[in-house]
Amino acid sequence: MSTPASVLDAAIAHAFTGLREGRESFAPKLTPHEVGTITSISTGIATVSGLPGVGFEELVRFPGGLLGIAFNVDEKEVGVVLLGDYEDLRAGDEVERTGRVTDVVVGEGLLGRVIDPLGRPLDDKGPVPGNERWPVERPAPAIMDREAVSVPLQTGIMVIDALVPVGRGQRELILGDRQSGKTAVAIDTILNQRGKNVLCVYCAICQRASAVAKAVARLRDGGAMDYTVVVVAEGNEAPGLAYITPYAATSIAEYFMEKGRDVLIVYDDLTHHARAYRELSLLLRRPPGREAFPGDIFYIHSRMLERSTHLSKERGGGSLTALPIIETEAQDISAYIPTNLISITDGQIYLSPTLFELGVLPAVDAGKSVSRVGGAAQREAYRSIAGDLKLAYSQFAELETFAKFGTRLDDSTRRIIDHGQRIRACFIQPESQPVAMAEQIGVLFALSVGLFDKVPLEKMAEGVRNLRGAAAKMPPEVAARLSTADKLSDADRKVILDIATLALAPLQPPPPPKPAAEPAPEKKPAGGPAPATKPAPAAKPGPAPKPASAAPPQKEPAMKPEATGKPADPPASAPQPAPPAKAADKPAP
Ligand SMILES: Nc1ncnc2c1ncn2[C@@H]1O[C@H](COP(=O)(O)OP(=O)(O)OP(=O)(O)O)[C@@H](O)[C@H]1O
Ligand SMILES: [Mg+2]
Repeated sequence: MSTPASVLDAAIAHAFTGLREGRESFAPKLTPHEVGTITSISTGIATVSGLPGVGFEELVRFPGGLLGIAFNVDEKEVGVVLLGDYEDLRAGDEVERTGRVTDVVVGEGLLGRVIDPLGRPLDDKGPVPGNERWPVERPAPAIMDREAVSVPLQTGIMVIDALVPVGRGQRELILGDRQSGKTAVAIDTILNQRGKNVLCVYCAICQRASAVAKAVARLRDGGAMDYTVVVVAEGNEAPGLAYITPYAATSIAEYFMEKGRDVLIVYDDLTHHARAYRELSLLLRRPPGREAFPGDIFYIHSRMLERSTHLSKERGGGSLTALPIIETEAQDISAYIPTNLISITDGQIYLSPTLFELGVLPAVDAGKSVSRVGGAAQREAYRSIAGDLKLAYSQFAELETFAKFGTRLDDSTRRIIDHGQRIRACFIQPESQPVAMAEQIGVLFALSVGLFDKVPLEKMAEGVRNLRGAAAKMPPEVAARLSTADKLSDADRKVILDIATLALAPLQPPPPPKPAAEPAPEKKPAGGPAPATKPAPAAKPGPAPKPASAAPPQKEPAMKPEATGKPADPPASAPQPAPPAKAADKPAP
């Protein structure tokens, strides 16, 4: 009878003992929880009072989970940059400190994903995997942790790889007016990294949604999403979100760099980033400076781009190459933001709308483009060929205007222009079709020895196509040597030359018929201006007296006048027909 009651008593006593022990062992701890209130709200900015302990750039949380960054930390008030939709916020709402800075999820799981700067997915592949978060603002590597840029980053765009080479760890600015092909250059560079062990981050800041969709589609179609992360702040987002986007993207890229990987990051584009920062600064009532930008506009870009580097072996040897993009207005590269970025970066690729209109795509203006370190990282094979090419191309660009007026040109000028036109024709390249290194070398080599000079301009595209096809089948051991640091040996040169000569042979004009060359000198003493023009068409295809297949003599004979209607003779007989031809020319224009 008494047994159940005693059991119950024991159980109750036990429970109470447990409770008492729990109560005794509990030590109340005071956790200060700072809560402030919104005093005012404006576009993308909130002013908050009552957060005395908040730190600079600390995250604060608004009702509904919306985050903001404490940007202006004043004695009585804090100016907070809002990172999202702020329509539901009201003055008087509560604001909490979080005690941490803005961070973003990083890791391998991001590859192939499209995310926003806070790490939220924008594609339909579900939550972003990865539990490691890195702050979006990180210090740049120290000087002693860096190494010289020594490995090229092939863009697959011939004009860039030849004339303004980019090295791994370099910052190379892409600038040009709107719709000049800036994004296309950057995306093509990402596409070309396929199979080259380079990871890519494409950061779109306030682009049109259609432009971002197009870029992502191009990356996906080109199979580049496997090694690419896309970080997007859409054009209609809060300016605060646009402002942190490139920093977040840089942290994502740095994660891979710290793991010893080579990484390429594209900022498309920093003009929008600068505008977002200007908007924030003006709303925060910071004093406006030149072009109404705040005084620290240089610093926001320099501290971001200084994070791109080539790390030393002790730090893993990774690299982060940056291709920031800037939009110019009316080709004014000396405006405030473009000059800032030109001075921060290690060179620039200028895209000219004039070339774009002419259909010379990609519209790289060789004269205004420069790479301050890439040359050191360029492969020897390129360097030996491309040096002369840049000079010849720049000279041509300078002289080209003269040719437009139908001016009579002396031989050497005409030769420079003819050669330049062929260089330009070789550099024309459609979008999304990167050119492999061996093919590039084949074309550049043929250009440098003047093999193309005899190919008619209208057949250049065909010539380049043939030559690229042939160069792609170059003996593998020669192709392998091209990508080493060694100079091209004479034997390799010979192999490439033979390939090029053979590929271009069908497009070379036939050797001049012997009898046609002879009457010309005879007509000269007759002095008739009219007959002198007649032989021109017959002689025009004959500027190459030597057989095209003979390798060595290519250097000089190639470029003889063609447009002026002068009979193009071998150098020996040149002086004679020349004067009447000029006389004949006069009436023509
Ligand atoms: N190499 C090329 N061959 C053919 N078309 C090209 C080439 N490069 C760019 N284009 C075309 O030029 C147009 C503009 O290119 P893109 O969008 O890259 O320019 P953008 O300078 O980035 O423009 P925005 O200022 O709007 O950002 C596009 O329609 C693109 O398809
Ligand atoms: Mg663009």
